[in-house]
Amino acid sequence: MTHVVSENCIQCKYTDCVDVCPVDCFREGPNFLVIDPDECIDCAVCIPECPANAIFAEEDLPPEQLAFIKLNADLARANGWKSITKRKTPMADADAWNGKPGKLAQLVR
Ligand code: F3S
Repeated sequence: MTHVVSENCIQCKYTDCVDVCPVDCFREGPNFLVIDPDECIDCAVCIPECPANAIFAEEDLPPEQLAFIKLNADLARANGWKSITKRKTPMADADAWNGKPGKLAQLVR
């Protein structure tokens, strides 16, 4: 089992989550973060930190977000997706994107 970053992180990338992760399992892409399922210990401390409510335990993912299980696993191993361990400035317009539907189309790999 693992925790999963879901669609509402895209174009927001607030990064509050990475500051609390005890095992540094977040990986960063251009406009999205993922959790490396091989590193995540299911501690759940990142869930309440996300202002976009984008992080779920795998078994709690809303049905329409299930594709993000594989997406997190794939992107965690993708070239260019590097470990991020310190909070940084969110994406420009993060607050405007927070909660918008259909953000998967905006994902930059
Ligand atoms: Fe994304 Fe939320 Fe972390 S928006 S970068 S999962 S704090």
